[in-house]
Amino acid sequence: MQNLEWSKLPFGYLKTDYNVRCYNRDGKWGELEISSSEYINLHIASTAIHYGQQAFEGMKAYMGKDGNIRIFRWEENFKRLERSANGILMQPVTKELFKKAITTAVLMNKRFMPPYGTGATLYIRPLLIGSGAEVGVKPAGEYLFAVFVSPVGPYFKEGFNPVKIAVVRDSDRAAPLGTGSIKVGGNYASSLKGVIKARDAGYSSPMYLDSVEKKYIDEIGAANFFGIKDNTYITPKSTSILPSITNMSLMQLAEEMGLKVERRPVAVEELESFEEVGACGTAAIISPIGEIFDIDVDKKYTFCKDGKAGPISTKLYNKLVGIQFGDEPDTHGWVEILK
Ligand code: PLP
Ligand code: COI
Repeated sequence: MQNLEWSKLPFGYLKTDYNVRCYNRDGKWGELEISSSEYINLHIASTAIHYGQQAFEGMKAYMGKDGNIRIFRWEENFKRLERSANGILMQPVTKELFKKAITTAVLMNKRFMPPYGTGATLYIRPLLIGSGAEVGVKPAGEYLFAVFVSPVGPYFKEGFNPVKIAVVRDSDRAAPLGTGSIKVGGNYASSLKGVIKARDAGYSSPMYLDSVEKKYIDEIGAANFFGIKDNTYITPKSTSILPSITNMSLMQLAEEMGLKVERRPVAVEELESFEEVGACGTAAIISPIGEIFDIDVDKKYTFCKDGKAGPISTKLYNKLVGIQFGDEPDTHGWVEILK
């Protein structure tokens, strides 16, 4: 096993031994190749680097106490990548190829699998890009599907401690009928101004509002938003946010814990009335939010007054992470052991 300070890992890129790649030429997927190079040889006119024909996924492999490596709801990531591919007219990968690629990428890099109990996981990054050359704006004739992995720690340095979020109003991540609901690189390019504006103001991540009225909460950087009040789990419904697999799972767990679940537009002013708020996603897991600063209107909302996550967020976090690492029974069939 690799000798790393597992519990101090940041959320970042670390070189591993192998990644996997596969090309689609003439509409057909070829053989999966294993590579030890961190680089891809790309045509100078490929549509990925000119016209943003590019989509990705984010998943994690979890090492259990029993020594088994688990992945969580991978079929949902597959389906989302398929939707992303269809959304920007790329060749979707097949389910078999997706499964084989992520499995191979994890198992070939077993020595980078963070041990149980360190809080770290092996992040899995599937990537689909238009690799064919075009100069006119049209879909490529060739696609590359690749998967790399990297051992990671918490997305926010605070871990499961409250983070500070800043509402950003002078740039938009996505348009209502644009690409916000699929996982394409362009959304992240348009989020960068907000990311830096939030960071420069001393906040961990930007909160985006709906781009039409600037009235409703969309999402938080690379995570969905949820709020809790009156025994109800409330999360925004919007056409410009990424449907989070973590959020979908939390909605189900919340319901099973006896909470009501509401998916509906959530006005920013409603923040005033929440007992707990958080950000959720594969990378962020659940990050309790301690403060939301609406920079441009100079208004602050504060939560977690005792400096700790609220009781319901904590219960949801423990249940979700317990299932992912195999400490809690997987009654939903969400987890698969990689062999
Ligand atoms: N929202 C955005 C913009 C994201 O990039 C992510 C990360 O994938 C999420 C939400 C959370 O989604 P998931 O829980 O499927 O990782
Ligand atoms: C994830 O939560 O998996 C993400 O993809 C976040 C990433 C954009 C850093």
